[in-house]
Amino acid sequence: MLYLFYIVFFLILVFGFVILFGAPFLPTLKKQVIPIFELLDLKEGQTLIELGSGDGRILYEAGKRGINAVGYELNPMLVLYSIIRTWKYRQNVTVIWGNYWQKDWPQAEGIFVFLLNRYMLKLNNKIVQRYKTPIKVVSFAFKIPDRKIDAQKHGLFLYRYNQPRK
Ligand SMILES: C[S@@+](CC[C@H](N)C(=O)[O-])C[C@H]1O[C@@H](n2cnc3c(N)ncnc32)[C@H](O)[C@@H]1O
Repeated sequence: MLYLFYIVFFLILVFGFVILFGAPFLPTLKKQVIPIFELLDLKEGQTLIELGSGDGRILYEAGKRGINAVGYELNPMLVLYSIIRTWKYRQNVTVIWGNYWQKDWPQAEGIFVFLLNRYMLKLNNKIVQRYKTPIKVVSFAFKIPDRKIDAQKHGLFLYRYNQPRK
């Protein structure tokens, strides 16, 4: 009985401590996965970053489409799970264990996030500071304050940064 307590305690600790740094684990619904890629409209060989890649469902879909995907995840159990899940696409899918706020984000054409309201401004500032080339950002559920939404569907919001002038 005591070992059950330890297991539950361990799981609460591993899944709970992330709220100090970002959103807790709550996966994007399966029906949202395809619309994410429709909005991002990334081509084979382009790069997608996922901040808080959870169970790897979006990384898997990216790998399937020949998109290079980099996921950052704080929860070691989810990192392990998503590495196994995306193993088939390991040539173009990378899962990095760590806090995405403290990592150097690679050059990319797309970012997917499912954060919390309180991190959206910080996200915007980091993108503006980091990227000087065109990049599309899709956020599930939460909007970037004071930023024009370029498209939306199924609770997903698309933002385009650094668009070339027509
Ligand atoms: C709301 S879930 C979204 C998971 C996945 N993106 C999806 O849409 O299915 C947020 C994820 O981000 C992770 N996370 C939260 N803060 C983080 C941080 N600062 N660095 C890395 N991962 C973080 C959590 O562990 C959790 O798996």
